[in-house]
Amino acid sequence: MRYPLKPIFCRPWVLNGLSLKLIESHYENNYGGALRRLNAITEQLESLDFAKTPGHVVNGLKREELVALNSALLHELYFASLGGEGKPTKTMADALARDFGSVDRWRSEFVAMGNALGGGSGWVLLVYVPRERRLVNQFAGEHTQAVTGGIPLLALDMYEHAYHMDFGANAKAYVDAFMRNVDWKAVEARYEDALKVEPPRPLVQEEFGDLPGIDVEEVKAMLDSGKPLQFIDARPGHYVSRTQDIIDGATWRDPERVQEWMGQLSKSDPVVVFCVYGFHVGCRTAVTLREAGFDAKYMKGGHSGWKAMGGPIRFER
Ligand SMILES: [Fe+2]
Repeated sequence: MRYPLKPIFCRPWVLNGLSLKLIESHYENNYGGALRRLNAITEQLESLDFAKTPGHVVNGLKREELVALNSALLHELYFASLGGEGKPTKTMADALARDFGSVDRWRSEFVAMGNALGGGSGWVLLVYVPRERRLVNQFAGEHTQAVTGGIPLLALDMYEHAYHMDFGANAKAYVDAFMRNVDWKAVEARYEDALKVEPPRPLVQEEFGDLPGIDVEEVKAMLDSGKPLQFIDARPGHYVSRTQDIIDGATWRDPERVQEWMGQLSKSDPVVVFCVYGFHVGCRTAVTLREAGFDAKYMKGGHSGWKAMGGPIRFER
């Protein structure tokens, strides 16, 4: 397959303080170069017999393919970021204020990131992250360091070829000129498209239907607040006998003998129960407790989730 060329998105003659010569050279040589490289590498990869190709050859080509592909994509976004008047639309101003505190705060971080790359190279990107449904500014070196699942909305090219012809080594003046020319209407249109992307699917445990679960962070906050909480470690006995760590604040109870120990619990205070990873054992125990009239929830992610979050652990047994 061939990657088709995308026309230059901005109208280069309307740009303020970025010369036609610079933009043309950038588009033709650097964007065009990346696309031509990408298509040459793709052709070469398509002709390979992978079973007979040494690993280092495959590795090198796939690495170069990644660099060329992302360079082409980011350059397309770069030219599509220009051509406006540099003033965020109401929608974008609200979104930036929501995620960065204020538009000025966003701008000062974005500009500082660009300035910091003067004399070096890389991209500064405003990215929408569906997992958090929020915007972040990210640095990307080697054309490739993209936030996984992130959707870039605005791209500032800080490779020297993007500004040297007009600004010499004065990267700061180039960053200022870029900011004056940002097409925020186009950024908003991309943001609206990005908002339609759903976050990664949550873990669904169909067999436990509507059993209420609770996140590890929320349990930690409950413990820290000092409110009464009956926090039950219900990891299977055979598992616990092989380990020595227990979540600080939790009491181990054998999930096989829940009928024996549930009588020691209070029905007026909440119960949070967990197993190793937050699947069957913890859920089944929570179901049993709920059927007996306790206000019980299972902790999502279980013991492992707690440790991954960096929650306190004690060693005993
Ligand atoms: Fe570039």
